Amino acid sequence: MFTLNSQSSVGHNRARTMPTSSAPRLLFLCFTLLSHFHSSVATPRHLRLSVQDIATVEAAQPARHRAKAKTTFFEVDRPLHPPRGSSGPCSTLLLSHSFALTLTKPPVTTAYSPPSCLRGAGDVSLAVLEWRADCHGVQYDRIFGVWLGGAELLRGSTAEPRPGGVTWSVHKDVTKYTSLLATGNSTLAVYLGNLIDDTYNGIYYANLTLHLYFHRKAQSAPTPAASAPADLIVPVSRSQPLDDGLWFVVQNGTDVESTRVTVPANAYRAVLEVYVSSHYSDEFWYMNTPDQNGPFREVTVQLDGDVVGAVWPFPVIYTGGINPLIWRPITSIGSFNLPTYDIELTPFLGKLLDNKEHEVGFAVTNAQNSWYVNANLHLWLDPKASTTAGGLISHDAPKLAGGINSHSLDGIDGEYRATASRNISATGWVSSSRGNITTTFAQRLNFANTNVVSKNGSEQTINQTIDAHTEVGGGGAYAHQLHHSFPLYIFLGGNGSGTSSQRLMRKVQIGFVESRSGAVAGTSTLRNEQVAEAVVVLRDDQVAGASWRMHQVYNYGASNGACYVRNVTSVGYDVLFDHDEASCGGTARR
Ligand SMILES: *[C@@H]1O[C@H](CO)[C@@H](O)[C@H](O)[C@H]1NC(C)=O
Ligand SMILES: *[C@@H]1O[C@H](CO)[C@@H](O)[C@H](O)[C@H]1NC(C)=O
Ligand SMILES: *[C@@H]1O[C@H](CO)[C@@H](O)[C@H](O)[C@H]1NC(C)=O
Ligand SMILES: *[C@@H]1O[C@H](CO)[C@@H](O)[C@H](O)[C@H]1NC(C)=O
Ligand SMILES: *[C@@H]1O[C@H](CO)[C@@H](O)[C@H](O)[C@H]1NC(C)=O
Ligand SMILES: *[C@@H]1O[C@H](CO)[C@@H](O)[C@H](O)[C@H]1NC(C)=O
Ligand SMILES: *[C@@H]1O[C@H](CO)[C@@H](O)[C@H](O)[C@H]1NC(C)=O
Ligand SMILES: *[C@@H]1O[C@H](CO)[C@@H](O)[C@H](O)[C@H]1NC(C)=O
Ligand SMILES: *[C@@H]1O[C@H](CO)[C@@H](O)[C@H](O)[C@H]1NC(C)=O
Repeated sequence: MFTLNSQSSVGHNRARTMPTSSAPRLLFLCFTLLSHFHSSVATPRHLRLSVQDIATVEAAQPARHRAKAKTTFFEVDRPLHPPRGSSGPCSTLLLSHSFALTLTKPPVTTAYSPPSCLRGAGDVSLAVLEWRADCHGVQYDRIFGVWLGGAELLRGSTAEPRPGGVTWSVHKDVTKYTSLLATGNSTLAVYLGNLIDDTYNGIYYANLTLHLYFHRKAQSAPTPAASAPADLIVPVSRSQPLDDGLWFVVQNGTDVESTRVTVPANAYRAVLEVYVSSHYSDEFWYMNTPDQNGPFREVTVQLDGDVVGAVWPFPVIYTGGINPLIWRPITSIGSFNLPTYDIELTPFLGKLLDNKEHEVGFAVTNAQNSWYVNANLHLWLDPKASTTAGGLISHDAPKLAGGINSHSLDGIDGEYRATASRNISATGWVSSSRGNITTTFAQRLNFANTNVVSKNGSEQTINQTIDAHTEVGGGGAYAHQLHHSFPLYIFLGGNGSGTSSQRLMRKVQIGFVESRSGAVAGTSTLRNEQVAEAVVVLRDDQVAGASWRMHQVYNYGASNGACYVRNVTSVGYDVLFDHDEASCGGTARR
């Protein structure tokens, strides 16, 4: 999208047809923030890049960047490799579609039956879903989702096109969905809410391909119990027909969106995988002021009305967010392939094994319109018994702790500090042919956010940290610990306000840091961090130039020897430095 404010239109739908109706959000933010301090800082003109402004930026690019050739945008992620000795890939094009006027229309659907090379779920050693799309012209960033049999497989935001076109692809490991992939007579649904008018003419062309790899029969290495995919996946989403995605739309802090699910009587493990994305008023929730319900958000998962787990989401910045130039060509962490979050429901199986319907609901604490939330219930079934039994031993989900402090430093400048913390725990037993196993699920979640307005209202700094410790304890082979840390720093500033020569500055530092350890699964750590900035120069209120840069370091290592390190720097559209190591002993240069 082509505004220099933090407004991004991913997920915008319904009435929003005119780009001018995209109320410049940073401006709104500044006005609301500063209205607290009885002042205002900037004019809308200085916070938006019109289509003409972007055309000016594009025209100022070196000739090699103005060629007709498409630019490839990418999200840094580790490449996927099948286990040693696998055969394949067996590749199947699932869908090829052009998304033009698709906003508020039903998802595109197609019949799905397993590719003929897929004989049984147990044969699959790696399944990769490839989303490949291109677009040229002018268009906003858009949200899209892919569902199979109502269960979500992929959610992403689109890249914003350039006049000469852009292309991007995502390769997602979907091995955990093999039971769905092996199920016949199913429906694949893709929703991408795009809009075409006289100005915004970019059509998204997308291909969705499934690549399957198989264990070689002779050496059929059984997947270790700790990582074997679920036997059954029950969608926890809205059913069709719809004029939107299959996600539930949570509109405010009291809204609980729910559906009913039934669990087979012989389940011995249950994990709810939650997909979430924030839109409209809450797209930049981490910048929200007290009158916008503050900057803290969490998705709570409710089972028959009780909170059984919480998701403190990674702040995904879509390709139009903060300043769209920052995310070209290296997009923000998670934007092309949003992260998902697992809530262990095994302790609650005692409640669920009664062959009756149970209500699974989602709420978003402090929500403003809108949050798109749905989930997949992964179930492992006892192959040797038609029933299992279970009981809940303890469940403790005290209220959220925390609050917002604000103070005004002087008439204009000020500071908000918000904190939140929450602990949730549950213990339950499940008796199956594997024995009577007790499982504990415990979450320890901490959040801190500061929002500082300084330099007489001309600068704003957000510094946020989310720390989430999750422990799945007890006797199961799946016992593990997971720690997430999501640091986020945003600086909005500029100088020369009120003069004919102005500079608008944006800086973003964001990290996705994850460590896992399991008795059976081993350990892994990921540090994925971006440092980026953009400067736009205005002369007499016209964009006269822009420069931007990104530095990203992705560092993954696991106790099974897997390793991937990538260090990449771009300036403008040029990738200046790109270095990766897949063996972490040898090196490779691109
Ligand atoms: C989709 O596949 C078709 C047929 O192979 C190809 O012509 C087209 O270029 C592909 N589009 C994208 C975006 O990859
Ligand atoms: C597929 O499912 C639909 C709806 O459940 C049903 O009407 C149809 O008969 C099924 N087809 C096959 C081949 O099983
Ligand atoms: C919250 O959203 C729900 C669902 O749209 C709506 O029914 C309810 O009136 C809203 N509540 C408030 C306080 O706006
Ligand atoms: C959560 O648990 C930790 C350790 O068990 C404790 O230090 C912390 O105070 C608890 N937090 C809340 C909000 O209860
Ligand atoms: C399983 O263990 C729990 C706790 O140790 C116990 O309360 C329960 O009765 C046992 N269930 C069976 C079926 O043995
Ligand atoms: C601060 O900003 C206000 C309003 O924009 C302006 O009237 C005032 O002169 C500024 N103060 C200083 C010290 O620049
Ligand atoms: C954000 O705040 C944390 C904790 O106060 C601090 O350690 C960190 O350096 C800050 N980040 C930036 C970029 O200022
Ligand atoms: C704005 O800052 C840049 C460097 O940070 C400087 O070169 C420029 O002169 C400044 N402009 C004004 C009007 O202060
Ligand atoms: C990334 O590469 C740059 C340039 O060579 C180097 O200065 C930096 O130390 C590297 N960072 C990491 C984490 O490897």
